Amino acid sequence: MKERVAIYPGTFDPITNGHMSIIRRALEIFDKLIVAILINPQKKPLFSIEERIFMIKEATKGMGNVEVDTFEGLLVDYAVKKEVNVIIRGLRATSDFEFEFQMALMNRKLNRSVQSIFLMTDYKWLYVSSSIIKEVSSFGGDVKGLVPDIVNEKLREKFRQKSEGGRS
Ligand code: PNS
Repeated sequence: MKERVAIYPGTFDPITNGHMSIIRRALEIFDKLIVAILINPQKKPLFSIEERIFMIKEATKGMGNVEVDTFEGLLVDYAVKKEVNVIIRGLRATSDFEFEFQMALMNRKLNRSVQSIFLMTDYKWLYVSSSIIKEVSSFGGDVKGLVPDIVNEKLREKFRQKSEGGRS
């Protein structure tokens, strides 16, 4: 039987337990999941692409068939290149719906053979986003338990570096 593969695209700056919940659920449906990080020079990410790849690889170690990759340009073009026709996105509250709906319709307009599938994140992570994690961490707040341990470690390092850099 053909291996069922899906792409889980995103910025992952950084990966959170909300993302992890989606990855776990997707792996219950698909044989393999490609976590694809968008390289977007317009956004100013906190973590470099290499750091994000490293954190996702560490966090998904032993979780099954997960490939971590990067892409530039249109997601549907990347899906065609990878010969995958399923895109996974996570939904938290209804506030996510509008953007996700717009994106799914645009992707469908661009390529009708690529399907979008939405998975609900676990209720524990409804309020967790990469942005809120970065904000809390930047002010020294504790995000332990909301992100994989490796991310917590890297956030502490990052903001320690930043505050040390700021003082000099
Ligand atoms: O984690 P994010 O930032 O919500 O992920 C958004 C992402 C990367 C999935 C989306 O911005 C994307 O697919 N960008 C690639 C460009 C593209 O294909 N745009 C057309 C569909 S909106």
